Amino acid sequence: MTPTLSDRLAAHVLAGARSLGLPDDDAALTPTALAAHGDFQTNLAFRLAKARGENPRALAERFLAALPNDPALVASATVAGPGFINFKVTEAALAADVGARLGDDLGAPRPGVGKTLVIDFSSPNVAKRMHIGHLRSTIIGHALDGMFRFLGWRVIADNHIGDWGTQFGKLIVGWDRWRDDAAFAADPIGELQRIYQRFGEIEDPDGELATASRVATARLQAGDPELRALWRRFVDASMVEFDAVYARLGVRFDAVLGESAYEAALAGIVEKLLADGLAEVSDGAVVVRLTADDGPGLGEAPFLVRKADGAALYGTTDLATVDHRLATWAPDLIAYVTDMRQQLHFRQLFAVCRRRGIQVPFQHVGFGLLRLPGGKTASTKSGVVLNLVDVLDEAVARARAVVDQRSDTLSEDERAAIAETVGVAALKYQDLSQNPQSDIVFDWDKSLALDGNTAPYLLYAHARCRSVLRRAGDAAPGPVVLVDPSERELAMSVARTPDVIRQAAAAWRPNLLCDHLYGTTQAFSRFWERCRVVGDDVPADVTASRLTLVTATATSLRTGLGLLGIRALDRM
Ligand code: ARG
Repeated sequence: MTPTLSDRLAAHVLAGARSLGLPDDDAALTPTALAAHGDFQTNLAFRLAKARGENPRALAERFLAALPNDPALVASATVAGPGFINFKVTEAALAADVGARLGDDLGAPRPGVGKTLVIDFSSPNVAKRMHIGHLRSTIIGHALDGMFRFLGWRVIADNHIGDWGTQFGKLIVGWDRWRDDAAFAADPIGELQRIYQRFGEIEDPDGELATASRVATARLQAGDPELRALWRRFVDASMVEFDAVYARLGVRFDAVLGESAYEAALAGIVEKLLADGLAEVSDGAVVVRLTADDGPGLGEAPFLVRKADGAALYGTTDLATVDHRLATWAPDLIAYVTDMRQQLHFRQLFAVCRRRGIQVPFQHVGFGLLRLPGGKTASTKSGVVLNLVDVLDEAVARARAVVDQRSDTLSEDERAAIAETVGVAALKYQDLSQNPQSDIVFDWDKSLALDGNTAPYLLYAHARCRSVLRRAGDAAPGPVVLVDPSERELAMSVARTPDVIRQAAAAWRPNLLCDHLYGTTQAFSRFWERCRVVGDDVPADVTASRLTLVTATATSLRTGLGLLGIRALDRM
């Protein structure tokens, strides 16, 4: 574990602040916008001057004079702009840093050790096809899971399957009347979905179907063994399909607990809320009334925990789920990854938890809509039902065309395996490389392009690094010496990777890591154009240094992509 250059500089800056008797809370080091201005910048002097009504530039000058002397780390420190301080680190410090980042853990500090994150993602509803909204949740959630684990957190990935509710009454009724056993055997979810849709479409003038479905829901919830067995079949059939998608995406969970798992706790939660005076009866229903003090806009609608007919709701289950997570894992942080349309639900949920005295911080990671080409959205209500497996197959088929074009020396099996990895990677990466909050339009051509901020571009750069290392023969990696400017740029990018992972996790934005890995890949391309690694005219110590730099680059890319759920290949 080696502190990063920015950690070391932060300590340096804070020591300067202390010697001036200034607050030393946050050095806020960022990369400088232009490499010509140095490597890192702090705005601490500027911020302090503003807060104290002093001249920022003058304070920055005093600050500079007060910085400790550390010639091994700092090559130059200068005041810039309205009161920023720019630092350039020494070649020796940078070279040594790269040498410390060759292992899969990147030698990175692990500030999360001892802390637990429960992260709720994917969480599809059974008896329905997993839609592309769940794809986004799965991909983004899995990337966040990876980054927090890397930082040392114990992460509990919890798949909160939607396996309970009134839709099962409808399914049971429809199953008895309209099922097609052969269709169910061939495509269980497709058949369940057909039955459900039929229920919604069919005329029910006397309310006969509606009554039957209410009765069935009540019997199921009361534990009727026959209906339970049928429900189990629906759930199991759905899980088979979900698991096939997870296997292809390389996604795993630590806990898979359906909403049904919390059924027994719901009545008690509502009673307790009433007894504690946190909830009240309103028109026969039970609600928690929040106010604007709980958060902007929260006074406008109450949080419903029991309907007038006695049924519990999605939110009641979420309250029970929070209790279970606290009791089981004692988390320090609980996060939910769903589309933005659930934002109000989660703000209400968190506010109710606060009122119940729960101190643990919550985070809702809301994401925008994903549209596929042709304007299809994630909605199943529109009747356009997208099978994720079909989307994955399409990605792989298109990747196969790219692989065939590029690689003529690979066997059929190798090409098939590479296409599977590249196709899935392209799909994931196009999602992850954008700010989660934006709506995105998925674009096959863009996602599979061999240049630009795409998975294939990064994967090919990684494979090229591995190929250089394989072909190095007897030459062994050695100490880094930075000769060409492109080497320094590449080294700096590699050195920053652990910082970026920390920032991306803190901001719940995997795209910050994507941007960085893209930058590393571009730096590698410039290095590759300018610097030979092995050759008769390349001195042995330069070869040794460059092999280390290439190893560090490959490791940074492989580890970074790995955190995003993308497996880097050695050959392509
Ligand atoms: N099943 C829900 C849906 O498809 C998502 C569940 C998110 N997690 C939660 N604890 N509410 O919309």
